[in-house]
Amino acid sequence: MKEKVSERTNFGTKLGVILATAGSAVGLGNVWRFPYMTGENGGAVFILIYVGCVVVLGIPCMISEFIVGRHGRSNTARAFSKLAGDTPWALIGYMGVLTGFLISGYYAVVSGWCLQYVWASLIGHLQGDPEYFKTYFMELSSDPVKPVFWTVVILLMAYFIIEHGVRNGIEKASKAMMPTLFILLLLIVGAACVLPGADKGIEFLFNPDFSKINSDVFLGALGQSFYSMSIAMGCLCTYASYFSDETNLTKSATQIAVIDCVVAVLAGLMIFPAAFSVGVSPDSGPSLIFITLPNVFQQAFGAIPTIGYIVSLLFFVLLSLAALTSLMSLHEVSTAFVQEEMGMTRKRAALLVTVTTAIIGAFCSLSLGAYDGLTFFGEALFDWFDFITGQIFLPVVGFLTCIFIGWFVPHDIVRSEFDKGGKSRYHHQIFHGFLFLIKYVCPLAILFIFLHQLELLK
Ligand code: PHE
Repeated sequence: MKEKVSERTNFGTKLGVILATAGSAVGLGNVWRFPYMTGENGGAVFILIYVGCVVVLGIPCMISEFIVGRHGRSNTARAFSKLAGDTPWALIGYMGVLTGFLISGYYAVVSGWCLQYVWASLIGHLQGDPEYFKTYFMELSSDPVKPVFWTVVILLMAYFIIEHGVRNGIEKASKAMMPTLFILLLLIVGAACVLPGADKGIEFLFNPDFSKINSDVFLGALGQSFYSMSIAMGCLCTYASYFSDETNLTKSATQIAVIDCVVAVLAGLMIFPAAFSVGVSPDSGPSLIFITLPNVFQQAFGAIPTIGYIVSLLFFVLLSLAALTSLMSLHEVSTAFVQEEMGMTRKRAALLVTVTTAIIGAFCSLSLGAYDGLTFFGEALFDWFDFITGQIFLPVVGFLTCIFIGWFVPHDIVRSEFDKGGKSRYHHQIFHGFLFLIKYVCPLAILFIFLHQLELLK
């Protein structure tokens, strides 16, 4: 078994580490959830609170997962077991893998919709009145064949990247996709911000409204920061198992967090100016990107339809890239697990994960209208996956990881991982600050979100 571990590859470059992990973090959450939450929760004030949550809670949680992953140099389940020994703490790793696996089926469905919209934009189907966009999306999501087809297509894309390995697959693909995503984002932000009336959208996003601050705003920002940074899904731990000893975990986590925040704010700058310029009030969730935005782009650039066509197409390409890099990281969690725990080749492991995820994805997709039998207690299977992974598993795994690193793992192990890759002037203070946050502040904060989400705390 030892040999297998030492055969493991690492990411080849520091840039590869940052872009791949940022690829996991930057996803649909940045584009459809962050802008809307910002607008609804007091604009600039929300952004400030969000950044506070990222610094105080998100970054320390990210570092903790990095520590477990790099120390273990193996898939998430085994990485936790290596530190936990025979104690029940080892279960956290298995839960992380399970969470990553379950969420990937559901995430693949939404990613598939993005691809379908790229296709629809390309062939000129995304044109019509507001009612048309609504019907188009409703028909698509409840169709028995199309969304399943696109789910399989995006999973196959993830498969082809993953089967090429860490350096030639994940790292290379991230190095191509992330800069492309960034350029597309800047192009669309540029186009949106020069529209007449765009300033109202910018104001909506950046004008602080202190009257909106309440506990919901804090808890919303907290939950969003965890989801957006891919915490507690096994992704960070798995990717960190490919970090070399030269990687400075604190610095990398900070850089990734900055990229994630910048993309989220830019997504707001892409959406609100365009929406306000045509007087459409932005919605949340799937209907924002799949119903409201195509309509907004069409109206906003109505004077020059070619530009409307191009912006809409580029937007869905951007969205698909963001979704694919996140889906890839979820896929890798299970692939690394299957490969190492079941002794399979990477290709076979990746194929098995692709097929099983596609099956889960198909059931999730079919539960949205094609088959009534996939509805439990009045909610579609799709929504159950969203609820169980996002609102139960994510906080539980996040909470236990903090307690594990803060209270169980010997501090010299934590410290030795923390020290690798160079020290800054305040390294000692930063380490103690990290320990304090991970021991007390993070678990309490996660506990609050958890109870609040289950409406046990109002
Ligand atoms: N961070 C991703 C986003 O913002 C979502 C995600 C969560 C991806 C967990 C992978 C793992 O959309």
